Amino acid sequence: MALWGGRFSTGPDEAFKQFNDSLPFDYQLAEQDIIGSVAWAGALKQVNVLNQQEYDDLVAALNKLLDEVKANPQAVAVAGHEDIHSYVESALIDKVGDLAKKLHTGRSRNDQVATDFRLWCRDTAEHILEAIAELKGEFIALAERELGTILPGYTHLQRAQPVLFSHWCMAYVEMLERDESRLTDAKNRMNYCPLGSGALAGTAYPIDRQTLAEGLGFTGATRNSLDAVSDRDFVVELLSCASISMIHLSRMAEDLIFYNSGEAGFIELSDGVTSGSSLMPQKKNPDALELIRGKTGRVFGAFSAMMMTLKALPLAYNKDMQEDKEGLFDAMPTWLACIHMAQACIKGIKVNADKTLAAAKGGHSNATELADYLVAKGIPFREGHHIVGTLVQMAIAQGNNLEDLSLEQFKSVHSIFESDVYPVLEIDACIKARQALGGTSLEQVTSAIKYAKKNSK
Ligand code: ARG
Repeated sequence: MALWGGRFSTGPDEAFKQFNDSLPFDYQLAEQDIIGSVAWAGALKQVNVLNQQEYDDLVAALNKLLDEVKANPQAVAVAGHEDIHSYVESALIDKVGDLAKKLHTGRSRNDQVATDFRLWCRDTAEHILEAIAELKGEFIALAERELGTILPGYTHLQRAQPVLFSHWCMAYVEMLERDESRLTDAKNRMNYCPLGSGALAGTAYPIDRQTLAEGLGFTGATRNSLDAVSDRDFVVELLSCASISMIHLSRMAEDLIFYNSGEAGFIELSDGVTSGSSLMPQKKNPDALELIRGKTGRVFGAFSAMMMTLKALPLAYNKDMQEDKEGLFDAMPTWLACIHMAQACIKGIKVNADKTLAAAKGGHSNATELADYLVAKGIPFREGHHIVGTLVQMAIAQGNNLEDLSLEQFKSVHSIFESDVYPVLEIDACIKARQALGGTSLEQVTSAIKYAKKNSK
């Protein structure tokens, strides 16, 4: 039964009904719709629309319905009603008859859906925050396990300067901390309750909206009814948090796909997160990481779709806004699954420290050290840079590293070079020199790990 048949002489066309119905996806709001309805029943009792007995009967029936929808959410999806609000009302009529028809007093589906959706978003944000914390923990554990492993650091995908492998891990911990803080902000901002805003103008019953909001775990009630029913910033913010975080995960995936490649051979992914080829028996493909990279586009797609849907919508509620759900209902579980999968990948990584070290030693990635050596001897950096460039060319010509050049060769470019140049070129010296805050020295990375662990408690 539709909630609005009175004004109509015929029912909707079948095609329109299918086009208009949101139950096939908003059934996911069943729990929130029922919890919101229990709270609304309380508000109606407070303004004497419901007496104590009616309230008790309604709440008992709603709680029973809650158990039913929890036990079989899929059954709700195919129940054929227009949306989750119609479904809950009709299921309640089946349980308590006409009394159920009182529950919609002073309430609109517009403030109802805005409330349900915020509750759903808040719960989802909490799950995602937990998953991010776990992923951070996994990166920190890997950083601790591999402390001392040296990795070539890249710019332009050219070997640039050596870094500790743990420094790479902690870079992702930084990103995840920002993801956490962004999501926490979004969660706090969304935590205001639209219920009691009516269709758009506010409810005509003297409901204590602050108490109603607090009962549902909200910080407070929204302050403007027009805004409350038409605001979907919280959806946009959540999708924006998801998109940024997915970008981080995609960069992690890309780094690891490269490290895992036959060409680099820096790491080996566990069998548990890789798959084989149907044709080539030797293959072990990084599918989990490629899917994380691929799904990033899908999450961002939901974000941009939501932005476009909201653009230039007049106040207040418009049916366009029903399009707020499917993208988010797809993007949030996708994001969560990617965080979990990233954790599984990080957990099972085997680092080939000999290979990372050999690669870090190649590519003349100690050239900056050599320039700094010249600076210490009083040569301006720009001039030192040029001298080292000449030496790199010399090393390339003889197919060697800088440390393999003879002292005579060094001196042939500049007489200031002495045998004290060799210790400077050692890879450990390159790492050790990065002592300033945020650098890759063992001390800095160790303190970054300590800070992150303290921060995660
Ligand atoms: N299914 C609708 C939605 O998700 C619920 C609100 C309907 N409101 C209305 N005035 N038709 O947006």
